[in-house]
Amino acid sequence: MAVIRSIIRGVGAHLPKRIVTNDDLAKSLDTSDEWIQERSGIRQRHIADDTELTSVLGAAAAKQALVRAGIDPVEIDLVICATATPDRTFPATAVRIQQMLGVTKGAAFDVQAVCSGFVFALTVADTFLKTGQFNRALVIGAETFSRILDWGDRSTCVLFGDGAGAVVLEAQPQHTGRDDRGILSTRIRSDGRYEDLLYVDGGPSSTKTVGHLRMNGREVFRHAVQKISGVIEETLVETGFAADEIDLFIPHQANKRILDGIAKKLNVSPDKIVMTLDKHGNTSAASIPLALNQAFEEHRVKEGSLILMEAMGGGFTWGAVLARW
Ligand code: ACO
Repeated sequence: MAVIRSIIRGVGAHLPKRIVTNDDLAKSLDTSDEWIQERSGIRQRHIADDTELTSVLGAAAAKQALVRAGIDPVEIDLVICATATPDRTFPATAVRIQQMLGVTKGAAFDVQAVCSGFVFALTVADTFLKTGQFNRALVIGAETFSRILDWGDRSTCVLFGDGAGAVVLEAQPQHTGRDDRGILSTRIRSDGRYEDLLYVDGGPSSTKTVGHLRMNGREVFRHAVQKISGVIEETLVETGFAADEIDLFIPHQANKRILDGIAKKLNVSPDKIVMTLDKHGNTSAASIPLALNQAFEEHRVKEGSLILMEAMGGGFTWGAVLARW
């Protein structure tokens, strides 16, 4: 039987020029390279300057994805940007990126699910493409978390970085079978009861300010392993694949200890996990496409590779996407 599937045609990424190491942070904060590496796995992060807006990073990543896909921007009819750090409260950052790229048809909008944003945005794009409403989508994860960090709070500011990644999806008819290409399964979840464990203490409606990120790290950690493992197990049951059939795990990069915990729980071999956390820190919605881009550039992504992406973020929100390259 033939069905419409969203094929990943290209991936791209872009990082701010400035790199800030753990030692750099320790110059103005009561912290150390040793503490940050041991507790999180992070060695450095990229921090955007005033000209490197979320839209600028996102557009650069999208351009690279389009070139690699061999698709002209005028052929794109859907732009979705996952971000919790938009340039402006409105219009959507996706609309600004649409304008920067010269995309003039279809629709563009943002998706806000914080660190799970890219998984949510892929799910939305895939759903639209499968209905036939749109044919070629740009799905972008772009963040400038440095703008919402409390640089005096050592328990949060050392963990995050800025950056962007993007993929181009194209609707194509595929025969259903175990070797099928494209997005094979998407699952997204939210539970607002956990809102106060990870949030920003500002916003236009509540405080009329931008606010700063606040987190109960220990509680987030506890939920992350459990919720992410759960959604991965559901994905494997739904699709009939075993964990050892997955070629590449591209997780949201929050904390190396969370990734190790999930790998252990699901019995995943560490060499299948793509890790960018050490170089990028946690870039929220950008971390999965940044990691996918790294795997692509290292030739770890091959035609036919079975790729599992997963994330959890504020809300809580969480989810997983299984795709064959
Ligand atoms: N440098 C030095 N010491 C620090 C720092 C720092 N940067 N930050 C905190 N400490 C201190 C604390 O003050 C505390 O000191 P105390 O014992 O004297 O009170 C001590 O280190 C231990 O603090 P904890 O918060 O208990 O440390 P923990 O081992 O839980 O690690 C961390 C903290 C890294 C935040 C961890 O809880 C974590 O990774 N949680 C997951 C949160 C996460 O990754 N969130 C990302 C967003 S959500 C997502 O993407 C899934």
